[in-house]
Amino acid sequence: MELIIVHEQYAPGVALIQLNRPKELNALNPQLMQELRDALHQLDRTEAVRVIILTGNEQAFAAGADIKQMAGKSAVEMLIMDQFSTWDQIRKVKKPLLAAVSGFALGGGCELAMMCDLIVASETARFGQPEIKIGTIPGAGGTQRLTRAVGKAKAMELILTGRFMSAEEAVAYGLAIKVVPVEMLMPEVLALAREMAAHSPIAIQLAKEAVNRAYETHLDEGLAFERKNFYLTFASEDQKEGMQAFIEKRKPDFKGR
Ligand code: CAA
Repeated sequence: MELIIVHEQYAPGVALIQLNRPKELNALNPQLMQELRDALHQLDRTEAVRVIILTGNEQAFAAGADIKQMAGKSAVEMLIMDQFSTWDQIRKVKKPLLAAVSGFALGGGCELAMMCDLIVASETARFGQPEIKIGTIPGAGGTQRLTRAVGKAKAMELILTGRFMSAEEAVAYGLAIKVVPVEMLMPEVLALAREMAAHSPIAIQLAKEAVNRAYETHLDEGLAFERKNFYLTFASEDQKEGMQAFIEKRKPDFKGR
């Protein structure tokens, strides 16, 4: 891996991936996205890893897709390159994926953060879809995910002006869950990750799938999906352990079985 750094055991049950193209503000070129896809694929299959954190550096989470690599391409070249198929694979990660965002999260950077399950922002975080300023539009889900996250009016404002949104604004509009001082970003995200990692990984995966379904379907189908996943947890030893531990007034010991 050249453009990302992977810490498989950042903390017990928690892996960390850091985007590492600092000179280019972590601009997301195809190589970086392929490395990220491969690392996530691997961590998703590693039993010891229960939660994955994705971060950049203090200056940038990621300043977007790599403009210099795209600038001269024709529509057909873009179509053949099919860069977003890598993004589609990242979307299929089953474990919780938490974005820890400092600095710029713009264009593809904002879209990548929104593909994570939740975003924690430091005070320096700036979110935006500035593609309009360079004569194009979001291409990795920005028009869809930002609209679902912050509502139509705010998404229209951000996408049609290209303006950046502060961390406080992102929290106020529900894009990020909280804003913390820069030095508290990793401790905060790690605390969340550890809390999730302590739960049954089976229940966590089924819950994540069910929440995501709320975005993809209508209520009746979503409720039926949730119910099936709820019943499915009863096939796990973890559900028996969790409920028995509650009854016996002790801490559960979840094995992921
Ligand atoms: N692609 C390629 N290189 C980028 C980049 C990007 N998205 N963003 C920054 N860089 C490079 C700059 O070219 C510069 O490189 P050089 O030193 O070689 O010139 C370096 O990173 C530092 O950037 P700046 O000098 O511009 O830093 P700044 O602090 O003055 O400005 C910024 C920071 C406001 C983020 C500015 O760099 C910027 O506007 N970047 C582009 C943001 C953008 O438009 N993103 C959307 C891209 S398109 C997209 O993402 C499509 C999609 O939906 C997938």
